[in-house]
Amino acid sequence: MAMTADGKIATANRAIRSFGSRHDQEHLLELRATADAVLCGASTAAEDGITLGPGSPRFRRERLRRGLAEYNLRIIASGSGRLSPRSTVFRHAFSPVIVLSTTSAPRTRLNRLRAVADEVALFGKAELDLPGALRWLHKRWRVRRLVCEGGGELNDAMFREGLVDELHLTICPKLFGGRNAPTLAEGAGFKQLADAVRLRLRFCRRAGDELYLVYEVVGRVASRGCDSTQRAMSQSRSDRRLK
Ligand SMILES: NC(=O)c1ccc[n+]([C@@H]2O[C@H](COP(=O)([O-])OP(=O)(O)OC[C@H]3O[C@@H](n4cnc5c(N)ncnc54)[C@H](OP(=O)(O)O)[C@@H]3O)[C@@H](O)[C@H]2O)c1
Repeated sequence: MAMTADGKIATANRAIRSFGSRHDQEHLLELRATADAVLCGASTAAEDGITLGPGSPRFRRERLRRGLAEYNLRIIASGSGRLSPRSTVFRHAFSPVIVLSTTSAPRTRLNRLRAVADEVALFGKAELDLPGALRWLHKRWRVRRLVCEGGGELNDAMFREGLVDELHLTICPKLFGGRNAPTLAEGAGFKQLADAVRLRLRFCRRAGDELYLVYEVVGRVASRGCDSTQRAMSQSRSDRRLK
């Protein structure tokens, strides 16, 4: 995630979504080149020009060198199924697009998404069962390392379910302000300090006026069935650590 110095990931009107340097954009593609799949929330996926692809041939070669598929899988969380079937991501067919939704999403919306996505899978009723979805992705699509690219609402759910191992954060030399500007983790959040996600700084580098940080998640809240998912993902990921 790219974040301003005041903790925002976009402006309050959501008009500005890309504010990192070119170096930061490359960093994002480098991260994608380490993962089987990229996941994002419906609002992020719906933005113009978002393909969630691996980028230039250099990154595709890097993927092949690592023993990954040339193109990463693309996964979108849309609990209500309101994701538009006209989103850019569906117009680029280089790799499967998988939509994660719930049984409470209206059937007409799901059918419209089924017409453009490679698979629409339902997990949970009122809320998306993310641990269940990740277990399924592990088994059905052989996803071993997943890069979640936000936005804030999806990030919050991933953290609350204890499904995050690492946080890659770029602090950009900007300040957006705005009470309604989204932050790194939106949604329900945690109510008590004891429940907060604990992070350990594993890496820190300055490039120009940007700071590149990698945090390891060291404390996780207990949640339904996430331990086995994490174990499975962490195990098969252990030999694919970032350089
Ligand atoms: N700076 C950065 O690095 C960065 C990265 C990514 C995004 N962004 C910015 O962040 C903003 C979007 O963030 P956001 O928090 O508003 O939206 P988001 O997380 O991208 O998407 C929210 C939508 O995703 C679905 N969703 C997310 N979590 C879910 C869950 N646990 N269960 C079921 N569905 C879930 C829901 O779709 P349905 O409504 O269909 O149910 C929800 O309305 C944009 O302005 C974008 O540009 C910035």
